Amino acid sequence: MKVLVIGSGGREHALCWKISQGREVGKIYCAPGNAGTSEAAENVDVSAEDLKGLLKFALENKIDLTVVGPEVPLVMGIVDLFEKNGLRIFGPCKAAAMLEGSKAFAKEVMVSAGVPTARFEILDESYSDKKIGEVVSRFDSAAVKADGLAAGKGVFICRDKAEIWSAIDKIFSEKAFGGAGKKIVIEELLDGEEASMLAFCDGKTAKLMVSSQDYKRIFDEDWGDNTGGMGAYAPAPVTEGLDAEIMKKVFVPVLAEMTRRGCPYKGVLYAGLMIKKGENGRRDFKVLEFNARFGDPETQAMLPLLESDLAGVMEACIRGLLGSFDLKWKKGAACCVVLSSKGYPGKYKTGIEIFGLDAAKNDGNVAVFHAGTKEAGGKVVTNGGRVIGVTGTGLSIRVAIDNAYKGVSEISFEGMHFRKDIGRRALGKGA
Ligand code: AMP
Ligand code: GLY
Repeated sequence: MKVLVIGSGGREHALCWKISQGREVGKIYCAPGNAGTSEAAENVDVSAEDLKGLLKFALENKIDLTVVGPEVPLVMGIVDLFEKNGLRIFGPCKAAAMLEGSKAFAKEVMVSAGVPTARFEILDESYSDKKIGEVVSRFDSAAVKADGLAAGKGVFICRDKAEIWSAIDKIFSEKAFGGAGKKIVIEELLDGEEASMLAFCDGKTAKLMVSSQDYKRIFDEDWGDNTGGMGAYAPAPVTEGLDAEIMKKVFVPVLAEMTRRGCPYKGVLYAGLMIKKGENGRRDFKVLEFNARFGDPETQAMLPLLESDLAGVMEACIRGLLGSFDLKWKKGAACCVVLSSKGYPGKYKTGIEIFGLDAAKNDGNVAVFHAGTKEAGGKVVTNGGRVIGVTGTGLSIRVAIDNAYKGVSEISFEGMHFRKDIGRRALGKGA
């Protein structure tokens, strides 16, 4: 089987790494990839958003399975394009990917499907100030969200009305997110603990993966600016015992609703959840968002725990045969610590040599996933803000964390930054 993985981050390295362990898998290509994907795959110099270029490559090279990492090509309609050309591709079609591509659409689907979610209203840029004012009057605090894709930057947490108005101004008047800000979802603020639950979907059936949590802020204890994600661990204890309820209240009704709307959901459906513990120990959850793909860096913590063949489960999803696929996860836990460039998520330098990658990999309980790296003159150098993800695995989260940080201690590059508290939350020790 020839496989093409699309994307260039740590998620895509983890996908290539796991897919390469499949029995049926022969050659893997990664477009455009990074210095790490080239260990398991051959990198192809085509951008993840050049749909025509990717199609041409897949047809010419008779690719049997294409796997899409990032959301942008999904929302652009890569799955529709590849399927129209007779190619097998893992991911939702354009209409189904709108669960991530439009937060207003996701909310409508949640309402129709009866999925628990925060109270909300939708604003349109054509609304008069008076009409917007009426809506705002119904919120004392709110999450204000640009409707479309905004690379994770389109959400404002507003503690009072002044902040709500300022967020609305940024989106509608200053057009901070361009066309992604023609509509706004304004919703009540929820409190609790966040966790991610992802499922493989074949249009009819969903099968849950291990739950996970990621860390968005740059500094320990959740201080500083938001990033693409500074680490993750799996499984997340906060979801323990909730699988059946999450399946019943989220995945089953959403799949049924998407089918009813004529766009059955195939691929990975990622539900971002807010989980609140009540006084009697009961946990309630609400869906904050859907993504139409694997998470980054959650994937780097989840895939080392997958026992089953990844290409096999993806094929089962494409063929509508997930119901009879025996999806297996390993016992134990995994923790991924991201190493970032000095200055990230602001400005940073690239081209800095990275040392110790082989030494870190020597331990069987450590996997090193590249994100912003490239090869230059026989060396591996930095090429992005998030540079490397080091995943440790173990029978307990405590051991997984230790293994991850042992791996981290082998690696160095000038200005290297990482959080020291990844996974601590799973030990019941706060952030
Ligand atoms: P989203 O892209 O919708 O998941 O929002 C990004 C982040 O904003 C989430 O991971 C939460 O940390 C936060 N957030 C979004 N919606 C809410 C909400 N209703 N209440 C509290 N925090 C939220
Ligand atoms: N780590 C969050 C995401 O991939 O969207």
